Amino acid sequence: MLILNKTARVFSTPSKRKICEFLRSFHFHPGKRLFHKLVLGIETSCDDTAAAVVDETGNVLGEAIHSQTEVHLKTGGIIPPVAQQLHRENIQRIVQEALSASKVSPSELSAVATTIKPGLALSLGVGLSFSLQLVNQLKKPFIPIHHMEAHALTIRLTNKVEFPFLVLLISGGHCLLALVRGVSDFLLLGKSLDIAPGDMLDKVARRLSLIKHPECSTMSGGKAIEHLAKQGNKLHFDFKPPMQRAKNCDFSFSGLQHVIDRIIMQKEKEEGIEKGQILSSAADIAAAVQHTTACHIAKRTHRAILFCKQRDLLCQSNAVLVVSGGVASNLYIRKALEIVTNATQCTLLCPPPKLCTDNGIMIA
Ligand code: KG4
Ligand code: ZN
Repeated sequence: MLILNKTARVFSTPSKRKICEFLRSFHFHPGKRLFHKLVLGIETSCDDTAAAVVDETGNVLGEAIHSQTEVHLKTGGIIPPVAQQLHRENIQRIVQEALSASKVSPSELSAVATTIKPGLALSLGVGLSFSLQLVNQLKKPFIPIHHMEAHALTIRLTNKVEFPFLVLLISGGHCLLALVRGVSDFLLLGKSLDIAPGDMLDKVARRLSLIKHPECSTMSGGKAIEHLAKQGNKLHFDFKPPMQRAKNCDFSFSGLQHVIDRIIMQKEKEEGIEKGQILSSAADIAAAVQHTTACHIAKRTHRAILFCKQRDLLCQSNAVLVVSGGVASNLYIRKALEIVTNATQCTLLCPPPKLCTDNGIMIA
């Protein structure tokens, strides 16, 4: 706790008076909910300020979230000090909204759980210092949470999944394959050697200036690529899936991104347009990028399933693959994973989209 306190102080410290005012703003209902432990979860690891109250049986009592996507879309990516400032501006309101929606007063909480890693240090610091002030005032226990473990375990809120199971996390900041053997027992099977698939899709979307496309202007890069890909022909470009010869379950996306960058530059020359204008072949490029990304993710996951099955690391009769993270909402990529799980007699499970992306529920 001392180390966490020191760490939190480096980043930001909400004043004691502010926390007191915050606590006074609640009406207390002593005597209610005697039988359920209630945990407040707080998430600020990247660009979402989120909070939720969950009881010990997994019921979500209330939640709130503030997304910074709109601001970061305009600046062309996440600028950490900007993300930090937005977390500072919103954390108190979001926690208040989650508690109010739950009809729970802070004194009724059994503990506060907060993401402490991994993530952007400046963003993590806001949630951490707010939480530590809160638990100090309330004299409640603090539960430090590993963001990736929370993502991996979220499926157990919506489906009855026994350990062990395989998890694939694919988002803007994450890319890993792991065997989940218990609540805090993970075997890492593979990870991205460079950037995450969502980051690559965001970069390609930005390079294609999809924010100027009338149908895509409010979408995240990955979603814009999925949308445009439906209108394109994936066979017009032949991008090779990365790491075809690598005998492991790791991923790589930055080589593919550079190949696509070069193609876009070449097409801009051919079509005689300036950087920043939309290519006539943008939809074909989107379709090919999405296809190559799906192939790469599916092939590496296939290897991981075969590896686990060969070594009896997964249940032979009911092996489960859980896919989560923002990129997991891509239906084309899901379809590719479905082909793999059907071929290996695995069950494919995805949390609902709201729980795939960063949220307070998974932390609580
Ligand atoms: O999990 P998330 O909300 O945040 C983290 O990165 O942790 O994921 C956001 C990422 C972004 O890179 C976004 O472009 C990508 O998920 N994404 C998608 C789709 N929707 C969001 N990628 C592909 N297809 C989508 N439909
Ligand atoms: Zn995440």
